[in-house]
Amino acid sequence: MKRVTAFVGSPRKKHTNDAVRQFLGNLQSLGDVESEIVHLSDHRVERCKGCCVCFIKGEEFCPFKDDDRDLLIEKMMTSDGVVFASPTYSFQVSAVMKTFLDRVGFVFHRPRFFGKTFTSIVVEGIYGGKKVVKYLDFVGSGLGFNVVEGSCVHILEPMTEKDRRKLDSNLAAHSKRFHDGLSQPPLPIPTFLYLMLFNKARTSIRHMLDDTYRDYVYYRDKGWFESDYFYPVRLNPLKRAAGRLFDYSMSKSASGKSGTVTTTPHS
Ligand SMILES: Cc1cc2nc3c(=O)[nH]c(=O)nc-3n(C[C@H](O)[C@H](O)[C@H](O)COP(=O)(O)O)c2cc1C
Repeated sequence: MKRVTAFVGSPRKKHTNDAVRQFLGNLQSLGDVESEIVHLSDHRVERCKGCCVCFIKGEEFCPFKDDDRDLLIEKMMTSDGVVFASPTYSFQVSAVMKTFLDRVGFVFHRPRFFGKTFTSIVVEGIYGGKKVVKYLDFVGSGLGFNVVEGSCVHILEPMTEKDRRKLDSNLAAHSKRFHDGLSQPPLPIPTFLYLMLFNKARTSIRHMLDDTYRDYVYYRDKGWFESDYFYPVRLNPLKRAAGRLFDYSMSKSASGKSGTVTTTPHS
């Protein structure tokens, strides 16, 4: 049985909630899935004040660490599949969703949701949702998830019969895609792009930071300064050579710089 948790970033329980319920209903009818909807607006998620303490010292030193951030992270940790859903607001995610993303922003520096499947659902009234899907899918990669391409659903009331049929078929196809994604190998071989991002991030962290920085300690303790990737993978000789080349080019450009960190999108 796979556990799927959907995080809904709408301040009200209307179209985004309905789309997510429909998606999860489809998913459950495909079998072996249990699901939960988490409404971010029902939780206490403080607005990041930009102190960067989570990046440098560690997330446990965040001045807002007593809000629901850790509970929400735990819900992701205990899920096999995660959905981020948001209405399109001013051509972006809602403020509710963005506030949540900023509170988990340290995870882009120290990704952790490997082996878990992610997707996004974005609702738009007229225009802009497709770019928001791309954005949320990129966010999922950066957090460490395996990403199944999300979907943008168009809901403008009153809905015509044709619009309704299109929405139903989009969500049905998306549920199928995600259901397939849940049973894919959990630790896929990285593409050249993600290999490059891993090698460049780890080499810049190794050269520019030291053990007074949480990112450095995290990478060191995970063995990521020596490993081929974030998790055990068998790279072919070409990818191994490419990895070494990415390390080399980053060490060249990192020499002389210190105290700067980079982030690492992952797929
Ligand atoms: C403040 C605000 C900004 C919005 N901006 C956009 C937008 O940029 N593009 C768009 O297509 N729809 C936009 N909409 C419409 C919502 O995306 C649409 O109504 C969506 O269904 C709302 O989801 P909900 O019912 O879960 O709140 C906006 C709505 C609000 C309230």
